Amino acid sequence: MSEPLKLGIIGLGRAFTLMLPTFASHPLVKMVAASDPRVDARERFASEFGAKVFEEAQALCADSDVETVYVASPHQFHVDHVKLAARYGKHILIEKPMALTLAEGKEMIEVAAKANIKLLVGHSHSYDLPYLRTREMIGTGAYGRVRMISALNFTDFLYRPRRPEELDTSAGGGVVFSQAAHQVDVVRLLSPSTAKSLRAFTANWDASRPTEGAYTAQIGLEDGSFASLTYSGYAHFDTDEFMGWRGELGQMREGEISYGRARQGLRNARTVAGEIEMKNRRAYGPTGRDAFRVEGDLAHNHFGLVIVSCERADLRPLPHGIAVYGDEKRHLEELPSPKIPRAEVVDELYDAVVRNRPPLHSGEWGLATLEICLAILESAKNGREIGLTCQV
Ligand SMILES: NC(=O)c1ccc[n+]([C@@H]2O[C@H](COP(=O)([O-])OP(=O)(O)OC[C@H]3O[C@@H](n4cnc5c(N)ncnc54)[C@H](O)[C@@H]3O)[C@@H](O)[C@H]2O)c1
Repeated sequence: MSEPLKLGIIGLGRAFTLMLPTFASHPLVKMVAASDPRVDARERFASEFGAKVFEEAQALCADSDVETVYVASPHQFHVDHVKLAARYGKHILIEKPMALTLAEGKEMIEVAAKANIKLLVGHSHSYDLPYLRTREMIGTGAYGRVRMISALNFTDFLYRPRRPEELDTSAGGGVVFSQAAHQVDVVRLLSPSTAKSLRAFTANWDASRPTEGAYTAQIGLEDGSFASLTYSGYAHFDTDEFMGWRGELGQMREGEISYGRARQGLRNARTVAGEIEMKNRRAYGPTGRDAFRVEGDLAHNHFGLVIVSCERADLRPLPHGIAVYGDEKRHLEELPSPKIPRAEVVDELYDAVVRNRPPLHSGEWGLATLEICLAILESAKNGREIGLTCQV
């Protein structure tokens, strides 16, 4: 059997809890260390995984047992944590969005290249098998050229408990930095050519959550095809209704019964400190790995409704497969249920680090997605179309 990658984790918060079921069960990875300023998280990690813990990210990066670092700290620390890991020659999996500015993203790519290490950006939903399989199906040419992509996602993102900077766009808050990174990644994965320019609008209509809660973007591609992306995190309609009430993680949801829960929950957090505390209660530390197991019959992760319109069929990735709406009939190309959620992330990381295969989700890939997220903000602010120059 292959030796697992020895992984060190920076940041044991929400993102880590979503990758924990993957890291804890994928045979090609072993968690050997973690760093987090929260003492309860460190203590729990040490006792549950028999692994080393550090208060400072630098000590984790310096540890000789760590081969690859998963950076899951808040966005504003990403650039420093990537530079640290690169300084100690560790390979890096950096959460999306890789950075808050193009200059930071480019710096990350440069330091990784100089240190001769692999830099991958993820998890993002473009790692999910239904999208990867849809891309393969497009590649066969059986459905004709891709002409248009439509992506729509409505969630309760803005009403989940947040740190103050998550509600401040200038600090990386809002749905464009955090959620467009997924949607843009998925659309880019399925696109027939690179993006040329975009025009976007953003919305910020709840003064108590003063950042972008929704956006819509029209992207023109080099080959004349186009994509339309819409997202709302305002916790009213929920696109999971279109996905058979499968949630983002592929879990079965209660659907109608859970209506309004995010807003109701938030009413209990009366102050900023109360909301931070509520957020931390959802993180790793106060509760351990058992709380983050994804139970029951599991389907694939998804990021809302996506329809790829080819000349001879619409392809619709779903948690169980890909629905094909052809000229004469429609059918479902079924996918097997995942044995390990988000296994694709570790598969790609392992292939890159151990087998030296160029990753799809490279630093350059992440930079192209970041450029589109920043262009959405700029277009909305200045009311004009934005040309794109970092697309791969
Ligand atoms: N891919 C996904 O599905 C997904 C989901 C959620 C978040 N994310 C991304 O993950 C990143 C973190 O977001 P989050 O929601 O987990 O935030 P979070 O606040 O829940 O967790 C961040 C963690 O980092 C810790 N931290 C803070 N400063 C640190 C430092 N200097 N060194 C080490 N740890 C530090 C915090 O104590 C906390 O445990 C963001 O970039 C976000 O966009 C990705």
